[in-house]
Amino acid sequence: MYTTRWIAPSNIAIVKYWGKFDHQIPANPSLSFTLTHSHTDTKLTVIESKTTQNDDPTLEVFYDGISKPEFQPKILKFLQAILNEYPWLKGKLLKIETKNTFPHSSGIASSASGMAALACCIEDLHATYFVGQPFRWHKASESARLGSGSACRSVYGGFVQWGHSSDGEGSDFFATPVQEVHPNFKTIYDYILILDSGEKSVSSTVGHSLMKNHPYASHRFKQGKENTVKLKAILKTGDWRRFIELMESEALTLHAMMMTSTPPFILMKPKTLEAIQKIWQFRQTTNLPIGFTLDAGANLHLIFTADALEAVEQKLLPEVQYLCEQNTIIKDLIGRGPF
Ligand code: PMV
Repeated sequence: MYTTRWIAPSNIAIVKYWGKFDHQIPANPSLSFTLTHSHTDTKLTVIESKTTQNDDPTLEVFYDGISKPEFQPKILKFLQAILNEYPWLKGKLLKIETKNTFPHSSGIASSASGMAALACCIEDLHATYFVGQPFRWHKASESARLGSGSACRSVYGGFVQWGHSSDGEGSDFFATPVQEVHPNFKTIYDYILILDSGEKSVSSTVGHSLMKNHPYASHRFKQGKENTVKLKAILKTGDWRRFIELMESEALTLHAMMMTSTPPFILMKPKTLEAIQKIWQFRQTTNLPIGFTLDAGANLHLIFTADALEAVEQKLLPEVQYLCEQNTIIKDLIGRGPF
């Protein structure tokens, strides 16, 4: 019996991944930062099994101590995708005990942190017990990608790129940390305004596939490629105005892609638009480094640097908190990655 435990945080994309080719190859590179508090904590126990007839591992999945057989198909599909890299998984009984620090449907990507935590557990057992070699971060990231594309970025801390960019950096197979980040962006906050906790009406799997016959797809992929290179230059120089401009344009473009797909989807709610207006007004009057991004849902990620922390806490939150369900705001910030 072998056991390990990893904690992996979620991440929030500034340049969005939306559209992919077979084998989880992204249509354009993306760039995110990894969070601190919103994470998945996973314990993996591998047990020799005498009952298994075929290569597939047998699973026992527990979420917060409760058995969750409904989680098994997605995890099994993930394990099947990495069996060649980790052949010792074949025919084993795997007990997966997992929990998140954030609520389901909170607008925080649990598949990113969940798949990253599991990929780190497997690479760790591989390195420690099965081959006796150092932990390979890029392999953990590559595996996580096969579970959920954006999960490969959660294997590293700070700002992280996934996908090959025109400056010759990055890889489509695994994520890589962004090397040069100006002190302005060393501490960056993500306060998630829970404006709607209902199930979202389009999964990211459906969303990616809708980009296949999308009338604006080629332009969007070109824009995503350009924005990745632009964002890295912005991160180097510390220009928060351009950072916010690019971030908000990416968020609204993501939603514009959903609105113009066939069938179309509108995931923003009236409260999302109201909160955006409040943030824009606040930025105009204070000239502080505050902006927003959105994931594939209605909740708003309020992104700001350390210079704006006091004003956000004291002046902006009182103006937007009433819009949130049960006044819920999840306060997070950039973090160091899994451990
Ligand atoms: O990793 P997936 O397949 O859940 O897709 C993530 C898509 C977005 O969260 C909307 C954007 C991103 O880059 O994280």
